[in-house]
Amino acid sequence: MTVPFFSLSEQVRGLRAEFLAALTDVVDTQGFANGPPVKKFEDELARYLGVKHVIAVNTGTTALHAALIAVGVGPGDDVVSVAHTWISTAWAISYAGARPVFCDVDEKTFGLDPSLLEKAITKKTKAILPVHLHGHPVDLDAILDVAQRHGIPVIEDTAQSVGSLYKGQQTGSFGRVNATSFYPSKNLGAFGEGGAVMTDDDAIAARIRLLRDHAQVSRHVHAELGYNWRLDGLQGAVLSIKLKHLDAWNARRREIAKKYLAGIDGPGLVVGREQPWATCNWHVFPVFHPQRDALRAELEKRGVQSGVHYPTPVHLQPAYAHLGLKKGALPVSERLASTEVSLPMFAELSDAQVDTTIAAVNAACRALA
Ligand SMILES: Cc1ncc(COP(=O)(O)O)c(C=O)c1O
Repeated sequence: MTVPFFSLSEQVRGLRAEFLAALTDVVDTQGFANGPPVKKFEDELARYLGVKHVIAVNTGTTALHAALIAVGVGPGDDVVSVAHTWISTAWAISYAGARPVFCDVDEKTFGLDPSLLEKAITKKTKAILPVHLHGHPVDLDAILDVAQRHGIPVIEDTAQSVGSLYKGQQTGSFGRVNATSFYPSKNLGAFGEGGAVMTDDDAIAARIRLLRDHAQVSRHVHAELGYNWRLDGLQGAVLSIKLKHLDAWNARRREIAKKYLAGIDGPGLVVGREQPWATCNWHVFPVFHPQRDALRAELEKRGVQSGVHYPTPVHLQPAYAHLGLKKGALPVSERLASTEVSLPMFAELSDAQVDTTIAAVNAACRALA
């Protein structure tokens, strides 16, 4: 039996008729660019997350860029974030003209280590941008405490954590303004690109809505440098349908994670676990092994596909060589990056596939011991 790392086939098949009806409706009403289905989805997601405003945009990368601009980040500023993330987190900081300052991560949460945050803050720090990597919430209270003492806004990157809770409250509802992604493989994924900004702040929401549509204050009048950040109506329609299933899909992921946590005990393997404050959506189920590539090859031999998130931390990417950070600068980020293996994780995995994965992981670890 082959266990795929990820597949959308069954999810799409199950909802095919509903998707096609909704897409047909958009075709018939031509609400293509930021049309009525986008507004409907924004309202639904705002209710789901418990935030006042959701502003849908064309990608998660854009959502981060918009959030940074909205809190006033610009050239000459620093933004404290992490290097153990998808590159977009850093891109957005650079697009805003600012410099990413990387704080190392906590190996228990995979995200920004609050005990190192204070040291990373300078006079130039204009925002703190933690990432809920793999869907696991960072310790928000500890981060918000430091941020508040310094009067610096927090922006949550919830691209991977839609539906994850911190102390019972939705991630994406804590920061001054927060950003998420609807890339197709995300827990809430569109049929293409998409993202959203979340905030309770009326002025920030109004400004992002304006920037999203060429900063057009009235027809043919552009108040400042604007952008085309609009989301397609077709994506809004798809996302509305999927949002209704998000909790059930995340619940199934949590069931799978519970089975993994109970069954995986291979020698030499460290398994990602949920912290006491977290209800994790398990966007990625990470395990860590010193012989990462050999482990993946052993899994493949046993019919189990795997992934890696992410092999090279941002500070060691060629694009960020100008920051002058060398290997060893962020030891925990580098260790997680070089040892992480992502196990198959999506709601439609069968119990038999989960059992096959557990047996394969344990046997692979024994083979490498
Ligand atoms: C942590 C993180 N931040 C930002 C993004 C950017 O989202 P997008 O691919 O929609 O631009 C992603 C997803 O790709 C992500 O995983």
